[in-house]
Amino acid sequence: MHDVPYFRPPELSGILADSAGIGFAMSCEDRTGSILATLAASKPGGRFVELGGGTGAGAAWLAMGMDADARLTTVEVDPAVQDIARRHLGTDPRIEFVTADAGDWLTEATGTYDFAYVDCRPGKYLRLPDLLTLLAPGALYVVDDMNPQPTWPDDHQPRVDGFLRDLPDVPNLRATPMHWASGLVIAART
Ligand SMILES: C[S@@+](CC[C@H](N)C(=O)[O-])C[C@H]1O[C@@H](n2cnc3c(N)ncnc32)[C@H](O)[C@@H]1O
Repeated sequence: MHDVPYFRPPELSGILADSAGIGFAMSCEDRTGSILATLAASKPGGRFVELGGGTGAGAAWLAMGMDADARLTTVEVDPAVQDIARRHLGTDPRIEFVTADAGDWLTEATGTYDFAYVDCRPGKYLRLPDLLTLLAPGALYVVDDMNPQPTWPDDHQPRVDGFLRDLPDVPNLRATPMHWASGLVIAART
């Protein structure tokens, strides 16, 4: 038994090489990506959102699990970072790239989503209730980087501690913390 992923998105090597080229070291790791793809495959025709899209590694994994009718909106505040994602994934008609602050996106968002992968402060440490109101019953909510990361600023650990402490009390959410990969929480909206 091992936990090495069975598959990898074809775009991933190029995305990671270009990410290294600009010194971007925050892409999700392969184990996280693999579970994103597996969970994504459980939502045929689903509406997906990723907040904090980075250079597109997470989006590539999600897209690998999504079927032809599923749609992903990936939101990233830094256009230079997102440019790598656009270059490698821009021909995938299922993916919409939004260059915006995720907080602003949350203010404007309408409709319901079946899957949220949240990788920046809005939707996780900020405005979690606003994100959760967008999720349909049965929708999945996934966050990573719950274990200490070398890229964290000095004041970040208390944010993570508070998030993990409060999560069991969030109404209509069944969450499981996973001390695995970068530290995940996988939750379902009830
Ligand atoms: C951990 S990285 C994303 C990695 C990516 N989700 C993946 O799985 O490969 C976090 C990203 O969030 C972006 N970000 C930070 N604050 C943001 C905000 N308020 N709105 C949108 N994006 C934000 C950063 O620029 C960075 O690219």
